[in-house]
Amino acid sequence: MPRFRKVPSYDCADALAAHAASLGIGLPVGRGAPSQVLASPWSFTDRAVGEITVGNRFTVLPMEGWDGGDDGAPTELVRRRWLRFAESGAKLLWFEATAVSHEGRANPRQLVLDARHLEAFASLRAEAVARHVEVHGSADGLVTGLQLTHSGRWCRPVGPPSPHIVYRHPELDARAGVEDDLAVMSDAALDALVERFVATAELVERAGFDFVDVKHCHGYLAHELLSAYDRPGRYGGPLENRTRFLRDVVGGIRERCPRLAVAVRLSAFDVRPFRAGEDGVGVPASAGEYRHGFGADASGLGIDFDEVDGLVATIAELGIGLLCVTAGSPYYCPHVQRPAFYPPSDGYQPPEDPVLGVARLLDATRHVNTRFPSLGIVGTGFTYLQEHLPAVASGCIELGWMDSVGLGRSSLSYPNLPADVLAGRAPAHKLLCRTFSDCTTAPRNGLVSGCYPLDELYRKSDGYARLKAIKKQ
Ligand SMILES: Cc1cc2nc3c(=O)[nH]c(=O)nc-3n(C[C@H](O)[C@H](O)[C@H](O)COP(=O)(O)O)c2cc1C
Repeated sequence: MPRFRKVPSYDCADALAAHAASLGIGLPVGRGAPSQVLASPWSFTDRAVGEITVGNRFTVLPMEGWDGGDDGAPTELVRRRWLRFAESGAKLLWFEATAVSHEGRANPRQLVLDARHLEAFASLRAEAVARHVEVHGSADGLVTGLQLTHSGRWCRPVGPPSPHIVYRHPELDARAGVEDDLAVMSDAALDALVERFVATAELVERAGFDFVDVKHCHGYLAHELLSAYDRPGRYGGPLENRTRFLRDVVGGIRERCPRLAVAVRLSAFDVRPFRAGEDGVGVPASAGEYRHGFGADASGLGIDFDEVDGLVATIAELGIGLLCVTAGSPYYCPHVQRPAFYPPSDGYQPPEDPVLGVARLLDATRHVNTRFPSLGIVGTGFTYLQEHLPAVASGCIELGWMDSVGLGRSSLSYPNLPADVLAGRAPAHKLLCRTFSDCTTAPRNGLVSGCYPLDELYRKSDGYARLKAIKKQ
């Protein structure tokens, strides 16, 4: 079993960067004080709303908790998470995947935004802003957004798979419970979904959010559309057709939501599906040419940015000013999407040093930011950096690899990391996420997500005992 050196064993960020260089990839290390570099405001411009200023360089990434109500309403656990994020000190709060319909939910506890829950979302957002003001003194430069999703292939609104796909996939169909062409959405169904996204975006605006994210990542529906190369009809084939959904949704939002900025979270590259090999280490699930990865080359293991650049050019033409770069999918290549030392229960041992995964994500973000400097770009994948996160984060800002540093898993274990870094305090070692992947293993086994090892609420819960038993098995 391959074992890699743990991040805390590198005594400084430069040593970690030297290790990354030995793997053939760069990892930027800041030279200025992170407390200053990461405190600087920045801005992006949305065609409808104009210039939006963000008060510092930290973003809390969307982190769903598998803990909404049966009807999709926010619960007390959701409220706790959002308020912790609001206290974090980050000035960009990118709230979690929220389904545009019941059948589009990835799990029976995913949030759903519809007229029934408008008031609940509006008051939760207002409470989050108020909490930020209470802790940090002002809402200046605080920007809030909500991610809208339809889970497509990975829909499980009541538990068992209930996939809605846009093309048949030789490997993923079996994993997603697709048995025949009945799961393939028609063009008319996609047209109707465009309207559903726009109507839900109207609710996002009414709830007071500054922006809506039209989610295009992680293998969910709009991301899958980007690789519908072989699909016939108006949503498949040439890139123009594969981006029709995005263009039509954004067109509708522009017409009906004049005060709402639009953002996109994009899987900017992909790889072929992985599975656990005989020794538990991740291996590609198949060999030969791969034709189903947006931003993937023909081997299915390397990046091809050609079409990605074309898509980002479209995003810029649509007057979208905010883009979050992520990659792959938690369902078939978690090592690419959220580098971790310990795999989730449905995953595999890392096939590569997770540092390489982090550096690849950051490098893809550099690629996009260098080509499209007018966009506001949020990077992803920092949690695995642990002790060295502040130095690498400030390196990314100093060198112009991105405009903001997105924090995912670390926001569950240690929401106040931004506040500590901005105050010049050393990170609290005991709160740093060590990537045990419990936040993924728990929901894969029917439990709510959260940081079971480090967040007292989850550590003391009955769920933690169950989780430990599941992991032992
Ligand atoms: C428990 C959990 C929930 C997540 N929820 C979402 C989500 O709602 N929307 C989304 O785009 N990404 C989601 N992600 C992905 C994260 O936003 C992020 O991209 C990933 O964890 C890598 O960043 P990190 O290294 O800082 O954790 C989730 C990840 C985890 C582990």
